[in-house]
Amino acid sequence: MKGRIRDIVCIGAGYVGGPTMAVIADRCPDISVTVIDMNEARIAAWNSDALPVYELGLAEIVRRTRGRNLRFIPQAEGAASIAQADAIFISVNTPTKTQGEGAGKASDLSYVESCARYIAEHATGPTIVIEKSTMPVRAADTIKRILSSGKNGGSFHVLSNPEFLAEGTAIRDLEKPDRVLIGGENVTAIEALAAVYRHWVPDAAILRTGLWSAELSKLAANAFLAQRVSSINAISALCEATEADVDEVAGVCGADTRIGLKFLKASIGFGGSCFKKDLLSLIYLCEFYQLSGPAAYWQGVLDINEWQKRRIAAMAAEYAKLGGGVVAILGLAFKKNTNDFRESPAIDICNQLLAAGIRLRLQDERVDAGDFAKTLVDERKAGFAFFPDIGQAVSGAGAILILTEWDAYAALDWTALARLTAKDAAIFDGRGIVRRAAAQAAGFKVFTVGKGQAPN
Ligand code: NAD
Ligand code: UGA
Repeated sequence: MKGRIRDIVCIGAGYVGGPTMAVIADRCPDISVTVIDMNEARIAAWNSDALPVYELGLAEIVRRTRGRNLRFIPQAEGAASIAQADAIFISVNTPTKTQGEGAGKASDLSYVESCARYIAEHATGPTIVIEKSTMPVRAADTIKRILSSGKNGGSFHVLSNPEFLAEGTAIRDLEKPDRVLIGGENVTAIEALAAVYRHWVPDAAILRTGLWSAELSKLAANAFLAQRVSSINAISALCEATEADVDEVAGVCGADTRIGLKFLKASIGFGGSCFKKDLLSLIYLCEFYQLSGPAAYWQGVLDINEWQKRRIAAMAAEYAKLGGGVVAILGLAFKKNTNDFRESPAIDICNQLLAAGIRLRLQDERVDAGDFAKTLVDERKAGFAFFPDIGQAVSGAGAILILTEWDAYAALDWTALARLTAKDAAIFDGRGIVRRAAAQAAGFKVFTVGKGQAPN
């Protein structure tokens, strides 16, 4: 095996593959990076000015690397690149299985397996194959088995290099990661990949582990983060019942350096494409290894999340029914600074409100309205409408429900908006960003998650 990586291919041009490869190309001008994807429209978008992923700073990096040492090509044209690659990242989706053994919990590895078959078919030389996607522990066994069936005589080393970036801060996370994790069995392969990251990451931040620890660490890290959000959300309900303030409680707990302040912001529940799917994958693994106690423990983290979404939607629905039954929803993305709404709490909350007969006026500065509409269960598609403008969205609404913490919502002029809403309108701040005194002075009743009872 070559000890130096000069030619990288990444299969999967999604939220992880695109930004990660752009940063590698930017930081490693001596390495050629090719990203391939079976979705030709996505590749075309990466080659255009309208990138398929919105992340702060991404467009500038793509602009300076694309055509230099970064290129995006459709998979149909990818065979020659695979044959030439020293290292191939697999960065495709690993969603929850919808059918077969483990449906509803286990990760669907069919996309990963098809990548492994594609590599086995086209790779020629010694190649390092890198799991960038989040995998269940021991998934590398399956990849190795498929790779060894290749007819070209290519030899392979499989590494696990899970990605820890968060959406909305992807470029910052990639450029200054807390840690890079490389799990593997072959020291030369591990060090070849470490040398790529060492172009900009200090060696002390590059953690080397065994394959199985790396795979499991990724699932465990996401589970720990999700567990913190569920913990503070469980406390938020108790705060509302007792007049304690959830931000004060989080501040006090987080001031203990053993606990820390991050991931203690109460909310309408966590969303995103990974926390739920990775918790489900972890639960499935526990059950597979007959560890029913741990499985129930992690299931509890998910259950609190569902409960939080349901109870906040129910409060807003109850209040809106007293007025004209119209709710303005501000924010559809699962967090700010991303256009991603996969598993966004907004989906379940909107659907619960629609089922209760509430009419919705929806607004988000980045989320594609047509795509979001497909997630709503409303046969006649008549119970909701999208508005590009916040003022239009709140016009006539009896309740305003804030579901994403976009900066624009934190800086709203409530006096101006009060002239547009229905009389006695209430704000349900699911993100704890509204300046309550200003909103109350403008005449709004205000509910903030974890701070007092809902208005009635
Ligand atoms: P994504 O859905 O945005 O992108 C995956 C891409 O892979 C798609 O464009 C799809 O067309 C392509 N693809 C699937 N199968 C393919 C195949 N056989 N050949 C070629 N292309 C194929 O997914 P994502 O959000 O980038 O996540 C990818 C992986 O990274 C997942 O395992 C996820 O859990 C993990 N992850 C995601 C994030 C995140 O913030 N989104 C962060 C860390 C880890
Ligand atoms: C998360 C992890 O933070 C990343 O490290 C990981 O790589 C990624 O999952 C992944 O594997 O996909 P992401 O889902 O993009 O990243 O975003 P987070 O910042 O973790 O937020 C997840 C959800 O939790 C969001 O809905 C967010 O609003 C919510 N959240 C987060 C809270 O409600 N409160 C908090 O204090 C923090």
